[in-house]
Amino acid sequence: MSQADPIAELESLESEGLAAFAAARDSGAVEAARIEFLGQKQGRLKSAQERLKSLEPSAKKAYGQRFNAAKRAIEEALEAAKSRVERPSIAADAIDVTLPGLMPKLGHRHPLTQTADELIDLFGRFGFQVARGPEVEDVRHNFEALNIPLSHPARDPVDNFYITDKTLLRSQTSTVQIRIMENQPPPVRVIAIGRVYRPDEPDETHFPMFHQIEGLMVDKGVTMADLKTVLRLFASSYLGTDVKIRFRPSFFPFTEPSVEVDMLWHGGDRWVEMGGAGMVDPNVFRAVGYDPDEVTGFAFGLGIERLCMRRHGIKDIRWLTQNDARFLGQF
Ligand code: PHE
Repeated sequence: MSQADPIAELESLESEGLAAFAAARDSGAVEAARIEFLGQKQGRLKSAQERLKSLEPSAKKAYGQRFNAAKRAIEEALEAAKSRVERPSIAADAIDVTLPGLMPKLGHRHPLTQTADELIDLFGRFGFQVARGPEVEDVRHNFEALNIPLSHPARDPVDNFYITDKTLLRSQTSTVQIRIMENQPPPVRVIAIGRVYRPDEPDETHFPMFHQIEGLMVDKGVTMADLKTVLRLFASSYLGTDVKIRFRPSFFPFTEPSVEVDMLWHGGDRWVEMGGAGMVDPNVFRAVGYDPDEVTGFAFGLGIERLCMRRHGIKDIRWLTQNDARFLGQF
């Protein structure tokens, strides 16, 4: 043995050391291997180091270098083995895997979001695409292009949330009608859903911020019969055939003729307004560069909160913004 090549012996010492640490399965085995290879008194590396003294001076340098490499490799194997076996062991009594698990609480969409999604789906089946517009609007889109001149009472600051003279929180989604027609030629078949703002005193059916769904259909030969058909079909699909709706003659500056659409409320003893509608006024077409002799169209704007309330039997619009989990959890 002592005649063997000292460098080759270092090599086999190294591979035996690496194998010993790799095979160690618990901290006792790691410690035994540590003592065998790295022990300060009788470790095998220690003996290999002693051997340096007996070598010819010419062989010392190569031996020393190989020794250092072997020592480093074995020390690294020790560290690796330690961190491998020191992973915290799970005590037998720490977890009872037979206990039922904790059910994570699943959230769900707000009833208004559900309503909006259903409306998009329903009108999608009637061929309506979805558009959006900004909540901070300018007076052109909220009023002027909708045939509401400066002198009109609907522009009064007590009835609107103005931000500057020329901008306000939109009071209606009819603003989006203008934006759509400014940006595309007829035919048009679009809905827009979003928030609108009006300084109303809150009560069971009013809130200063609510959502509307605006509908706009423009083409050659669109009539009031189309409007009534679409709204009736919509109401019976969304609210059910048992919920009565009615059309009342009304006035909006941007439609002529105009109607208000009511639905028979919970309990059946009163009508509540679902929204307004009508045939697009020729002045609106002129404001966006459509030719009123070429096309006609209808528009409607419905309150989404009230639709949601009627559908689900919700008595008070304010519950929809109070974020009471006991209320929201029911939908
Ligand atoms: N914008 C009207 C409102 O907010 C509703 C409406 C929309 C009426 C479209 C006619 C046509 O009350």
